[in-house]
Amino acid sequence: MSAGVRVGVLVSGRGSNLEALCAAAASPGFPAHISLVISNRRDAPALEIAGRWGIPAEVMPLSQYGHDDRARDGAMRDRLRLAEVELVVCAGYNRILTDEFLAAFPDAILNVHPSLLPAFGGGMHAVEAALDHGVKISGCTVQLLEPGITDGGPIILQRAVPVHEGDTVESLQERIHEQEWIAVPEAVRLWCEGRIRREGRVVRIAPPVEVADARSSQADSLT
Ligand code: GRF
Repeated sequence: MSAGVRVGVLVSGRGSNLEALCAAAASPGFPAHISLVISNRRDAPALEIAGRWGIPAEVMPLSQYGHDDRARDGAMRDRLRLAEVELVVCAGYNRILTDEFLAAFPDAILNVHPSLLPAFGGGMHAVEAALDHGVKISGCTVQLLEPGITDGGPIILQRAVPVHEGDTVESLQERIHEQEWIAVPEAVRLWCEGRIRREGRVVRIAPPVEVADARSSQADSLT
């Protein structure tokens, strides 16, 4: 089994961010290992991507848990713990996670959102909303998820994307995706290297540290 921090990835759709993370994790020296992919949708193309990379993938649809988010998220938490997952990455996961789930992995759940938060948070149509609003610059945000505030957690990384004349939701979404494919692996790397330091809701990125010290630094900084 590959070395590195054990990462679980939650998906619902296309899985292009999962693909980017798999590619990064396969590169020499990357400090994470993707242990498990969980989808809430049986038809998510992301499941095929997991299969192609040889990563165990499971489907946990809401319907299997009486359409009860708390029951499903509880089962998902247990499954991730069984896989000894240390870091959870929401890579296009289309449900709001329950506070109980978020509290089970404190400062250890990353989410990628297709806007420059706090603009256009809290919904599934951020790219369309940004275009409708007429912004000239959009982008993506990778943040830590916390109980109680959808899309309001501490920001780890943001990458800007200019809006072009004539952009459609699809064209802008695709350029934002290209930046997400850089931002998500980078945020995972930073987390795994113990370089994410919180000061209240502000995240400071620490300079690289010796690998041997990184995990203890992470534990110190997040407790
Ligand atoms: C991304 O744009 C992400 O910001 C949003 O959902 C999309 C997922 O894309 N949360 P993919 O499934 O990774 O291709």
